[in-house]
Amino acid sequence: MIVVFGSINIDLVQRTPHLPAPGETVLCDGYDLVPGGKGANQALAAARAGASTAMIGMVGPDAFADAALRDLSQTGVDLSGIGRSTRPTGCASVHVAEDGENAIVVSSGANQTVTANQAPDSTFTPDTTVLLQMEIPLSENRAFLHRAHGAVRRAILNAAPAGPIPDDALDCLDILVVNEGEGAMIATQAGLSASSLRDVPAQLARRYDLTCILTLGADGAIIASADDIFSVGAAPVTPIDTTGAGDTFVGFLAAGLDSGLDLRTASARASLAAGLACTVTGAQTSIPTALAVDANLRHLPKVETLN
Ligand code: RIB
Repeated sequence: MIVVFGSINIDLVQRTPHLPAPGETVLCDGYDLVPGGKGANQALAAARAGASTAMIGMVGPDAFADAALRDLSQTGVDLSGIGRSTRPTGCASVHVAEDGENAIVVSSGANQTVTANQAPDSTFTPDTTVLLQMEIPLSENRAFLHRAHGAVRRAILNAAPAGPIPDDALDCLDILVVNEGEGAMIATQAGLSASSLRDVPAQLARRYDLTCILTLGADGAIIASADDIFSVGAAPVTPIDTTGAGDTFVGFLAAGLDSGLDLRTASARASLAAGLACTVTGAQTSIPTALAVDANLRHLPKVETLN
C-alpha cells in the first residue's frame, strides 16, 4: 500500500518554440488544462504501476478541483484523504519548449493548507510506503514523517522542488530522491563537499543512513546505499515533453519496491517508465501503465555496479 502526502494541481500547459527569457513575450498556438502536481502525479504513477494507492492532500472550492482529481479517481486512487480548502486549487503554468525542456511556476493555493493531521493513525502501518515531495508546507511534511518513522515499511521523499530540509526530517527517511540541484543543496546544508557527481548520493546515503537516488535526466540515475552504489541508464527515447518524468520515476520506484522488487530491478523499471513519459505531452497524460512498460521491456535500461 502506498500513501502519497502531497500536492495536487491543475496544469496550464503551453507549448512554445523556446522558453521565454526575462521580459520576453512568446506566442504559441493554444494551451491544455490537465491534472498535475508532484504529489498527484506520483500517486497516479504508483497506481498505474499496479500499487494500491491513497492520496492525502487539499483542493479548493472551485471547478479546477474535480478536473485536478479526474485521473486519480478514474485510476482507483483512494481519495478519502483529500480535503477542501477555502484557498483555490493549486495551479501550475507549464511552459514546454520544442526540445522538450520545461519551465514551471506553481501557484500553491490549497496545497499550502495541507496538514499532517489529515492522516488518521491507521495510515501508518508496517505494510505502508509513504511518499512525499516538497510542494506542501515543510512543517507538515516534517510532522508527517515523524509520525511515519518506525511505523511504516518505508518513507520516501522526492526533494522537489529544491529547498532546505531539516536533519530531523531527513533522519526519518529510507529513500531520498534528488536531482543534481536538489542533491547539491542538501549536501551543502549538511556540510558535505562532493568531488564528483557520484559522491553526492554516496555521501548523503552515509550521512542520513538511507538510500539516495540522484536522477540525471537523459543520463539515468546513480543510486547509493550504505554498502552499494550503482547506476541505472535512461530509456532510449526522443523526448517531446519531460514534464512529469521525474514523478513517473518516483511513483514506479515506490510501486516496484512495494510489490517486492529489489532496488535494482525497481529502479530500472522506473527509469523505463520515466523515459516513456517523455514521449507524450503533459504530466498525468504521459504516465504509462504497467502494461505499457511491460510492452517495452526490451528497452529496459542497464544497471551497472560502480566502484
Ligand atoms: O513535476 C511536474 C509537476 O510540477 C507539474 O505537474 C506541476 O503541477 C508541478 O507541480
